[in-house]
Amino acid sequence: MVASDLRSWLDLLRREGELVEVDAEVDPYLEVTEIVDRTVKAGGPALLFRNLKGSEHPLLINQFGTERRMAMAFGAPNLDAVSQKLEDVLEMQPPQGLMEKVRGLGKLKKLADSMPKRVGGGPCQEIVLEPNLDLLPIQHCWPGDPAPFITLPAVITKDPRNGTRNVGMYRMQKIDSRSTFMHWQIHKDGRMDWLATEGRIPVAVALGCDPVTTYSASAPLPKHIDEFMLAGFLKGSPVELVPCRTIDLEVPANAEIVLEGYIEAGELGTEGPFGDHTGYYSPAEPFPIFRLTAMTMRRNAIYPSIVVGIPPQEDAWLGKATERIFLPAIRMTVPEIVDFDLPVAGAFHNCAIVSIKKAFPGHAKKVMHAIWGLGMLSLTKTVVVVDEFVDVHDYNEVVFHVGANVDPKRDVIISEGPLDQLDHAASMYCYGGKLGIDATHKLTVEGAREWPERIAMSAEVRDLVDRRWSEYGIEASAEENGGISRALRQKLRL
Ligand SMILES: Cc1cc2nc3c(=O)[nH]c(=O)nc-3n(C[C@H](O)[C@H](O)[C@H](O)COP(=O)(O)O)c2cc1C
Repeated sequence: MVASDLRSWLDLLRREGELVEVDAEVDPYLEVTEIVDRTVKAGGPALLFRNLKGSEHPLLINQFGTERRMAMAFGAPNLDAVSQKLEDVLEMQPPQGLMEKVRGLGKLKKLADSMPKRVGGGPCQEIVLEPNLDLLPIQHCWPGDPAPFITLPAVITKDPRNGTRNVGMYRMQKIDSRSTFMHWQIHKDGRMDWLATEGRIPVAVALGCDPVTTYSASAPLPKHIDEFMLAGFLKGSPVELVPCRTIDLEVPANAEIVLEGYIEAGELGTEGPFGDHTGYYSPAEPFPIFRLTAMTMRRNAIYPSIVVGIPPQEDAWLGKATERIFLPAIRMTVPEIVDFDLPVAGAFHNCAIVSIKKAFPGHAKKVMHAIWGLGMLSLTKTVVVVDEFVDVHDYNEVVFHVGANVDPKRDVIISEGPLDQLDHAASMYCYGGKLGIDATHKLTVEGAREWPERIAMSAEVRDLVDRRWSEYGIEASAEENGGISRALRQKLRL
């Protein structure tokens, strides 16, 4: 079941023992961050702070902070199941036979039902207010931040040239009760809409939507695809939209809080520094100013937030959801890719591990260049390519193959290209070196001597040991000696 709004999501989290409600008074100035940092790193629950210093509104955080909760948000048993849903549609072939045609129609209907739907009114406009950000418990996250930041917004704009909607998640530093900065970085679609606009661009910010709609704001979709359509597809029901009160945009009817306003072309100020997902403070830089024209909300609105910082943090799971959901789409362009992993510790842009079905000389290098040319993956600093039988999510296995299969003189590429705006190690702004490591087996034409055979036990002996396993008494004896660990049990395939 997929939650239809933030409140039914909270009910679900409560029922599943995934939510703790904190009644003690807590300060959004740093204290919430410290509590959340400890909770996330321990794999702990979502937190609803009910008693925040300086605000009447409760604050929800860590709603996505484990794989289980992230999958629950999509109503799926795990993130691979979400990916499978997308793969089924992307890999549609002309149907053969009646049953396939019926199934195909079902899939097309799912797609048609994904389109956002305009409705007359919605809970997000139960209360209409003069803009006043002082009412909200906006977190001041880290000691070196200059101000509080809105950290989990869905920022809505339209391309003035064709009216296509964009939804992005861009942090917003509070300037005063009626304005914030808008931190849309140089590679982001919201910024493109702004740059294409003469004069003012209307901007709406939805806070506290259902979890899938909130996730969709962080999804790196191509510019011409509406993130609310992806949300509708993943939810299995359209995102319902209501027209804003003071600007020509629409917002999700189920949002807890909506900020309406505009950004003037060329009106910039100095945003940051901000304790960022890189684990460092991103430096102060010029960013545009968002001026509010209205603020609407549900009664007793809940304010959503997230902390980023030294990984792992809650955003790890938003990133993992994207990694899984986008795999089928990546395979449409680069079908030889079997799987890929963006390590959380690599802050997503720093490292991608990719497994491929290697078929020809230089194949791994072809895939590195494909990654460096693919949407937001183009910002990846290091790409490691391994053979299809390597589990990209098992970093021990990956390091083993990098060590065993790489001659650094032959198998490493140093290239260059665009880098994430937040990358402080690059010697140039948004631009720098790229590292490609080919850890696949090598062919003679790639300069290898004869490649040795991998060690593997014969199938007969494996079967024999499987059949006789209990006879050896290993498991029983280990149990007697204090039990056998779950990890060891899995390795032994018990
Ligand atoms: C918690 C969180 C905070 C983020 N903050 C920013 C940000 O401040 N600026 C930015 O450009 N991208 C930020 N991102 C990444 C964007 O949301 C992401 O690249 C998204 O695809 C942008 O949408 P767009 O492709 O429509 O521009 C953040 C992502 C998450 C999960």
